[in-house]
Amino acid sequence: MKPHDQLPSPHHWLDERLPFLKPLCRHIVRFPVPPVNLLWTLGACLIVGFALMLTSGVFLSLHYDSHIEQAFASIEAIDRRIPSGWLLRSFHTGGVSLLFAALYIHLARGLWYGSYKAPRELVWLSGLTLMLLFMVTAFAGYVLPWGQMSYWGATVITHAIEAIPGIGRPLITYLLGENTLGAVALHRFFILHFALGFIIAAIIGLHILFLHGTGSSNPTLDSPHPVHKTRPFIPFYAFKDGLAVCGFLALLTGVIFFFPALLTKISNTIPADPLKTPADITPEWYLAPYFAILRAIPSRLGGLILALGSVAILFILPWLDRSPRHNATYRPFLRIGLVIFFAAFLTLTIAGLQRVTPLWLWLSRGSLAVWFFVFLVLIPLTAYQERHISSQKREMS
Ligand code: HEM
Repeated sequence: MKPHDQLPSPHHWLDERLPFLKPLCRHIVRFPVPPVNLLWTLGACLIVGFALMLTSGVFLSLHYDSHIEQAFASIEAIDRRIPSGWLLRSFHTGGVSLLFAALYIHLARGLWYGSYKAPRELVWLSGLTLMLLFMVTAFAGYVLPWGQMSYWGATVITHAIEAIPGIGRPLITYLLGENTLGAVALHRFFILHFALGFIIAAIIGLHILFLHGTGSSNPTLDSPHPVHKTRPFIPFYAFKDGLAVCGFLALLTGVIFFFPALLTKISNTIPADPLKTPADITPEWYLAPYFAILRAIPSRLGGLILALGSVAILFILPWLDRSPRHNATYRPFLRIGLVIFFAAFLTLTIAGLQRVTPLWLWLSRGSLAVWFFVFLVLIPLTAYQERHISSQKREMS
């Protein structure tokens, strides 16, 4: 026997030690995917986009200094003196905008095609958890440069939390480590931002695990000509996802190199000054809808409850919509409801970026009312009617 015949091949060596590896690879290769459209490639774009954020974030943190006197200067050093630091930072700050855009479209896709319905509730709930964690992480990250908008944006949010009766003030003191935003708070924001990146990575793993438990939903199901044929994930859908990821990265690179002004707020290039409130404090566009809700309600506590409530409604959506149908294209009332909701969400986003005027205040209030009406009234009623129709059809047949 030749000596190399006695050596186990590398994959055999691994199989013996990790016996689940082969079935797992086989599962991924053969994972049956129904005839999904291009919107189903956004999940892959989110994974790659997030990996880029995590990697660039780890490298940025090698140079960032969370001491209150050094934070702003360390960001300037990254932009001006660290080799390719500007590129790293542009990918990190530009990536977050594109990632949120992809996330909101991914969520809207789920709403339109009824992806939140049984048996995919866990996929939906883990997705919403990811969205919330994304928001907290983005907010914490925005504070880190310790610029004017970082400081004053964080002040607005801490004031909103302070409005919780009884526990608001002690909670803020506990979270910030002192009574006002200062050195301890900045250090904690940094730790929170850093740690959440890895928690999000773990929850993305769960999200995919849940999806692989049930499989992707089929967007052709309620159409007059449903297609039930599935194809294995590799090579068909892996190739399609790969192409979409290339497009996503090209878009991100295009924005960074050709429209860098879209990514930075001029007021955040001024160091934080607790004695000088900026004329108008506005958040980044992806948090603007919730900021508009906070501002639209005269009571601070009321604004906080409604902003949290608007997201909480999405968590109970699988139980609000008990219709046997999925796809809004073939559900006329749901279709109208969702179009109005998307318009309301867009209005709130724009309103959150404007100075407060009576017009924007009333537009925000109207959009908020639409948000609650669509989810709490229109969707349950439509579902009730559709359930009734389908039970009548069953009785007749
Ligand atoms: C970092 C954030 C996220 C990542 C990396 C991610 C990743 C993915 C991937 C790879 C898929 C499979 C491919 C696809 O359908 O596009 C998927 C499906 C899904 N995601 Fe996400 N997702 C994220 C956030 C969200 C959010 C915010 C929601 C909604 C609340 C959500 C809800 C869903 C649902 C319901 C499906 C199943 C879709 C179907 O088959 O109809 N995800 N996600």
